[in-house]
Amino acid sequence: MDGTETANRSDKKFRLVQVGCGNMARRWVKYAAERPDIELAALVDIHLPAAEALAREFELNVPCYTDLGTAIRESGADLVFDVTIPQVHKTVVTTAAALGCDVIGEKPMAMTMADAYEIEDIVRRYGRRYSVMQNRRFARQIREARGQIAQGTIGKPAHATANFFLGPHFGGFRETMDHPLLLDMAIHTFDQARYLLQADPMSVYCHEFNPSHSWYSGNASAVCIFEMDDGSVFTYNGSWCAEGEPTSWQGDWRVVGSEGTLFWDGTNEPYCSVAEGSLGPGARMLTYRRVEPSSPWTGREGHDGCFDEMLDALRDGRPAETDCSDNLKSMAMVFAAIESARRGEKVRIGPGQAYDIG
Ligand SMILES: NC(=O)c1ccc[n+]([C@@H]2O[C@H](COP(=O)([O-])OP(=O)(O)OC[C@H]3O[C@@H](n4cnc5c(N)ncnc54)[C@H](O)[C@@H]3O)[C@@H](O)[C@H]2O)c1
Repeated sequence: MDGTETANRSDKKFRLVQVGCGNMARRWVKYAAERPDIELAALVDIHLPAAEALAREFELNVPCYTDLGTAIRESGADLVFDVTIPQVHKTVVTTAAALGCDVIGEKPMAMTMADAYEIEDIVRRYGRRYSVMQNRRFARQIREARGQIAQGTIGKPAHATANFFLGPHFGGFRETMDHPLLLDMAIHTFDQARYLLQADPMSVYCHEFNPSHSWYSGNASAVCIFEMDDGSVFTYNGSWCAEGEPTSWQGDWRVVGSEGTLFWDGTNEPYCSVAEGSLGPGARMLTYRRVEPSSPWTGREGHDGCFDEMLDALRDGRPAETDCSDNLKSMAMVFAAIESARRGEKVRIGPGQAYDIG
């Protein structure tokens, strides 16, 4: 790449169409409005009044459409923000890529693994980029927890576990989905496990169920055991119909390594507890000392942090940390877990398997 290309790239302005103008859309429009290098050119929603209301709320003088293709063609957009419901992500992303746009979209990539593979394939064939919002791996605390693991504070990770127990009464699409917890929420926790361990899944055994008191029509609880490709095991206990003593939305984490344990409850600062000294005469337990994170995370958090990374990647012409090809691995954890629960047996993930993640 010569100097002219670098200059052109850093001067680039994105011409954006945002599709999906519901609850989450506000956060996306707000981010776009704050960036001088993004020009919001149009809003799209199948329900036109939703797009018009969002434009009014943010005092945006932009045309509103019900059809994404028309919006892209008439605005000359090169970037699409997809904040629609999961059922339409495939249509949105493939339409946008076919019309020459890169896409940044809300999780989950798709409603089935087959659709997720197909989306990645289509995006690649059109030579576009598609990155997925995985805001929970951009929390400052999880970045600092990862830093402690990377520094070797707990030695080699062997066993990670996340407890996730909450009782949200959402109403809307989540209460009628078949797998609300695994598909709409656990994607975050599974993606966090991959991030914390920097390891990918090799198999899963899952028991998914819907307690009799649940207010969801699909299964709102699950227990999963994943074997990871670094030799560690990740276990997940989750429920979206658990009333009382909620965990944080980040999950309540423990990563046990050869030298000690990383602990993070998702709210308070993470820390490690590491063994010191040697066993005294007659003693059964070592003593432990607490180690605080030593490398502060200075990036932005949550959605903003993930947006920053996805747009930097587009500018740099590289895949984002949450590029769709990476996100397929977190998606595979979700769909292999659903398949394991259906079959009542362990399901393999990896090259040559039904859940092939390369
Ligand atoms: N990352 C997170 O933390 C997080 C949190 C909440 C929601 N989400 C995700 O954000 C997405 C949107 O969720 P939400 O809560 O805003 O949902 P929502 O139902 O409030 O909004 C979705 C909007 O999409 C529109 N829409 C539906 N089909 C469309 C189509 N074919 N074309 C154009 N517009 C269409 C709807 O009319 C609605 O206005 C989902 O994928 C959800 O999983 C992510």
